[in-house]
Amino acid sequence: MRKIESGSALNLRIRPARKEDLAGLLALESICFKEETFNKRQLEYLLLKAKSLVLVVPAEDNKDNIIGSMVILLREHIAHARVYSLNVHPLYRRRSIGSSLMDSALGFLKDRGFKKITLETGMNNTAALSLYEAKGFSVDRILRGYYKNGGDAFHLVKNL
Ligand SMILES: CC(C)(COP(=O)(O)OP(=O)(O)OC[C@H]1O[C@@H](n2cnc3c(N)ncnc32)[C@H](O)[C@@H]1OP(=O)(O)O)[C@@H](O)C(=O)NCCC(=O)NCCS
Repeated sequence: MRKIESGSALNLRIRPARKEDLAGLLALESICFKEETFNKRQLEYLLLKAKSLVLVVPAEDNKDNIIGSMVILLREHIAHARVYSLNVHPLYRRRSIGSSLMDSALGFLKDRGFKKITLETGMNNTAALSLYEAKGFSVDRILRGYYKNGGDAFHLVKNL
């Protein structure tokens, strides 16, 4: 259990996802994103088959509810990790959950010798960009028309 300081106090527990978390992960995806969400088949693949790190934060009152998640694809042969998603339920934002998920992931990756982590995020996603910059990521290029709706993205990188 970890007590977090900012916002209302939460007993934040971050753990690797299990197959029973699939429904909770899908529900959180659909709340956080209207477009560009993972479907069940994709999430199932990322959770059960891919070389990945999937972290979840269960709700304190109902452990089946997932209030935060992070999906990272691991390319071990090149020591490179790619963040596929980072989601925090809207009711729990600005309480350091996103930040704690990222810290856990960075610790895991460093311990296993990963050298680089990359991600993409919408150019107007102020919340995500602030978090990533605070964690030491920097923009290395712009991806024009990256999203299905034609929106542009920043590609960010952090050396570990
Ligand atoms: C981006 C997201 C994961 C942040 O999660 P969170 O738990 O609210 O973030 P934290 O409370 O850990 O915030 C950490 C830091 O990020 C920055 N930040 C977070 N939300 C912010 C906002 N709305 N505006 C500006 N800065 C913000 C701040 O620097 C913050 O530190 P502070 O609270 O000490 O000022 C969350 O807003 C979210 O799930 N958004 C929808 C999904 C999404 O866009 N994911 C990223 C896709 S690439």
